[in-house]
Amino acid sequence: MKYIDIHSHILPYMDDGARDAKMSLAMLRLAESEGISDIIVTPHYRKGHYKGERRQIDKVLAEIRDLMKAEGIQVNLYPGNEIYYHSELEEKLESGVLSTMNNTEYVLVEFSPMEDFMYIRSAIDQLFSIGYIPIIAHVERIQCIEKNIERARDLKKSGCDLQVNAASAMGETGFRCKRFVHKLLREELVDYIGTDAHDIDKRRPVIKKCAEMLYRKYNRDYVDEILFQNAATRLLASK
Ligand SMILES: [Fe+2]
Repeated sequence: MKYIDIHSHILPYMDDGARDAKMSLAMLRLAESEGISDIIVTPHYRKGHYKGERRQIDKVLAEIRDLMKAEGIQVNLYPGNEIYYHSELEEKLESGVLSTMNNTEYVLVEFSPMEDFMYIRSAIDQLFSIGYIPIIAHVERIQCIEKNIERARDLKKSGCDLQVNAASAMGETGFRCKRFVHKLLREELVDYIGTDAHDIDKRRPVIKKCAEMLYRKYNRDYVDEILFQNAATRLLASK
């Protein structure tokens, strides 16, 4: 079984993810042993906090690919960003300062867990209006959506994609989060399971146990979609 991870802080020196190249390689080895064949690297971009910009991402990505080759690690890496929504985001996407997901029209967008739904709704509409398709990062953490699943249905209806973290599905981030992830899964509202890996001990690039649980509980074709197929078709095809 192969998995595609669309949310990962495996690239070093960019954010609060991998500290250095050594940690990156350890994370990549672990990801490979978990059956993860492809990773879209998504360094944080958050104004005033993290500056994961395209130029730097491409540079570090090339360095890591060389090191992986030398070590015989076979995982395909693609550029991306996890972008904390802010008003200048559109301009930075248009000018190529920030990365879409593997150069597609899909953008991984993060909101504060406390964000107001009207704000999220209008941010999403804004992205659609200029031709992007938003993927909402770890949607299960956003309280106004967790309190009212109709809002997740509404976002999906408008064409948004929803990503949840494997650790949330496994209950590692608390009962509420887990319960909400499973509500979303029962209605097949989730598009991707990501690891959101940051390191090698606490927020690791692991997905195998989660995948086993998902295959036990949910429709096989749907689980294939959220672990692999959706990402393959929407984000990796012909790129
Ligand atoms: Fe993340």
